[in-house]
Amino acid sequence: MLQFIYIFITTFLFIKEAHAVYPLPVQSTRGMVVTEQHLASKVGASILKQGGNAIDAAVAVGYALAVTYPCCGNIGGGGFMLIHLAKGSNIFINFREKAPLQVKTDAFLDASGNPLPQKSLSGFTAVAVPGTVLAMDQVLQKYGTMTRAQVIQPAIQLAKEGFIITDSDKARLNSLNVANLDPNVRAIFFQHDKPLQPGDRLVQTQLANTLTAIAKEGTAAFYKGAIMEAIVKASQENGGFLSREDFAQYTIQELPPLTCTYRGYQVVTAPPPSAGGIVLCEMLGILEGYDLKPMGYRSAQSLHYIIEAMRYAFADRNNKLGDPDFVKNPLLELISKYYTATLRNTIQEFQKTPSADLPLQNILLESTDTTHYSIADKAGNLVAVTYTLNGLFGAKVIAGNTGFFLNNEIDDFTIKSGTVNQFGLKQGEKNIIRPGKRPLSSMTPTMLFYQGKPFLVLGSPGGPRIITAILQTILHVIDYKMDLRMAIDEPRIHQQWWPETVDMEAFAFSKDTLEKLAFMGYRFRLRAPWGRVEAIHINENGTFSGVNDDREPGGLAIGP
Ligand code: DON
Repeated sequence: MLQFIYIFITTFLFIKEAHAVYPLPVQSTRGMVVTEQHLASKVGASILKQGGNAIDAAVAVGYALAVTYPCCGNIGGGGFMLIHLAKGSNIFINFREKAPLQVKTDAFLDASGNPLPQKSLSGFTAVAVPGTVLAMDQVLQKYGTMTRAQVIQPAIQLAKEGFIITDSDKARLNSLNVANLDPNVRAIFFQHDKPLQPGDRLVQTQLANTLTAIAKEGTAAFYKGAIMEAIVKASQENGGFLSREDFAQYTIQELPPLTCTYRGYQVVTAPPPSAGGIVLCEMLGILEGYDLKPMGYRSAQSLHYIIEAMRYAFADRNNKLGDPDFVKNPLLELISKYYTATLRNTIQEFQKTPSADLPLQNILLESTDTTHYSIADKAGNLVAVTYTLNGLFGAKVIAGNTGFFLNNEIDDFTIKSGTVNQFGLKQGEKNIIRPGKRPLSSMTPTMLFYQGKPFLVLGSPGGPRIITAILQTILHVIDYKMDLRMAIDEPRIHQQWWPETVDMEAFAFSKDTLEKLAFMGYRFRLRAPWGRVEAIHINENGTFSGVNDDREPGGLAIGP
């Protein structure tokens, strides 16, 4: 008995102490901006302060991140934007890049039919038609209140005047230090033959000119004018597939978001061509049938069910999904409570399922070089944006004097069914590359509502680990009642059907939990880095709590 009292008291004291050292979420009554780069967050907050709405701020931040977070923020890539309007409607903007019209399905194979990974990963061959500029412009016109010039101006200023590189930029910039780096990239990001270092000022005059042209001429500057001409010219000179036609025909889509429920909360999330929403809803559907909390936080039993949910949902991810403009996706089946209950019934209580027993193959593994930001305004409009160049600095090329990186989104396609891509994984037939098709994505901008009221806005970079990061944040908040800061900071795990192992962040398991899970058949590997969840909690009284993930120390949550 005394022992139990002792355990109770020490546990209680420990928990109290842990809360005492946790930094609180940032609070505001007037809205919130959370991004992975502090200067971009301040741009968003200043737009809200000037009376702009969340959409104005989202567009301003989208452009600002293209300047201050050039690895990932972009005008040369694409992504997804989820909007909740204060009046009640939810809108999903698909600005995923499209494969060039001149691309051939076998363009990334050698003479023996084997994949040529370098071709889909770097240089102009890897570039798909960018969507960011068109999306930013169309949402601003339809849902914003400010002019294009007003929302782009802060980005122009940051590009022209420059900003100071910090420690959190160092590793990313150093990754540019490779042989045969594009001279255009070298001219901007290097000094004395070395990438810029903390304390150096990054000035991007060419990018400032590009942004000024977009501010003045709108999307025509990008899709019809000199910027397009420079990209097409550089692409043609370097073996790429981009043509004028690609830019003339590129479109974005306004779609209804995917929705599901979890323990009474409404989850509003990303539909195809993202796989994110489907996998998230499928995992939540499986887990809803378990009462996780009484099993104990991070108990072997609860982790077993969470890992199995990840495995089952990811097993469905690849063969069943692709660009809905090209293939039929069984999305309503995959997220139905009936289907997830069927999956749950095959999960053993004390034994992991071998991945090979699940009939499907092919899972993507991606790096962690996308970016997510979340914005709320005081009127109740919410925006969640995840956009990307795919790899760190995308294809690592800049066309002519345009000053911005182009994506390598081609690598998100299946290059050849059943072969392993550079991340060691296989992809399915439905995601095979075709001219004009959009590659399947894992990006998952998401919002949760409770009894009709906004509750959470969140998203993350991290390839497939985006979806499990969102899952764990949601479980921590809803099942374990953690505050948002704690929910995000807790160490994460990830399983994606293939490989069989479970990825874990440092300190994710205690030794005895690991032993119990190993006994159930699990194997683990320590991985880093992990995606950064950038989120806003809308409190019951309508105020906002923002959290920048500590995994990106350069980020910031800030109220206007
Ligand atoms: O769309 C996708 O799923 C990937 N292109 C995202 C890449 C990513 O998240 C990389 N790192 N954060």
